[in-house]
Amino acid sequence: MSVTYRKAEKSISLAWTGASGAPYGLRLLECLLKSDYQVFLMISSAARVVLATEQGLQLSANADKARSQLLAQFGEVDGELIVLGKEEWFSPPASGSAAPKQMVICPCSTGTLAAVATGMSNNLLERAADVVIKERGQLILVPRETPFSAIHLEHMLSLSKLGVTIMPAAPGFYHNPKSVEDLVDFMVARVLDHLGVNHALTNRWGYDKHNVSDIDY
Ligand SMILES: Cc1cc2nc3c(=O)[nH]c(=O)nc-3n(C[C@H](O)[C@H](O)[C@H](O)COP(=O)(O)O)c2cc1C
Repeated sequence: MSVTYRKAEKSISLAWTGASGAPYGLRLLECLLKSDYQVFLMISSAARVVLATEQGLQLSANADKARSQLLAQFGEVDGELIVLGKEEWFSPPASGSAAPKQMVICPCSTGTLAAVATGMSNNLLERAADVVIKERGQLILVPRETPFSAIHLEHMLSLSKLGVTIMPAAPGFYHNPKSVEDLVDFMVARVLDHLGVNHALTNRWGYDKHNVSDIDY
């Protein structure tokens, strides 16, 4: 694999794992690519099953084929997509000397949450998260499970104490969503906000159609 090194702020690692919420991951990837990001994408085996179940997308286990399949979904994009296999130890996200400073795991399964919280690094995806933590970069996890057990909550707490941002897949309803896409965009918008990526996916609190003085409290 030959990849051109991009300025750090335009390069990011994105991981999809086997929690419900494949549409979040797909939409986030689309937004990052349309914002001219170089995206290193890591996909767990379980994430492929969830993608097929929730989106009807049978993503190839072959990284090059998966890349073509994904790009075909989005049409024209300015960014660059690099799909990585789970043992590509010589890829940039595997080392602090080259890894992007930002990484998002969206959706994040409780299994991957546990692996990241305990520093397992058993595959590239887990190693990439470990690298971002040790390099004190920005790691965002979008876990999805309900209810959360004490195990899940403890893992989230220990990661939060390390500076990891925990953003549970919990879209709000105050923007009057009309579709599943609106709910997906709500979550993706919040992740993009934290990454510092400009977007117009949702109205901003206090700037949308509600005139505060019209609300009868
Ligand atoms: C359709 C489907 C939905 C799932 N939803 C969740 C979920 O919401 N949260 C979760 O933590 N695990 C969920 N799982 C289970 C995980 O995929 C499973 O624990 C897997 O081992 C996670 O592996 P990974 O972390 O390597 O992706 C789901 C599995 C399937 C097939």
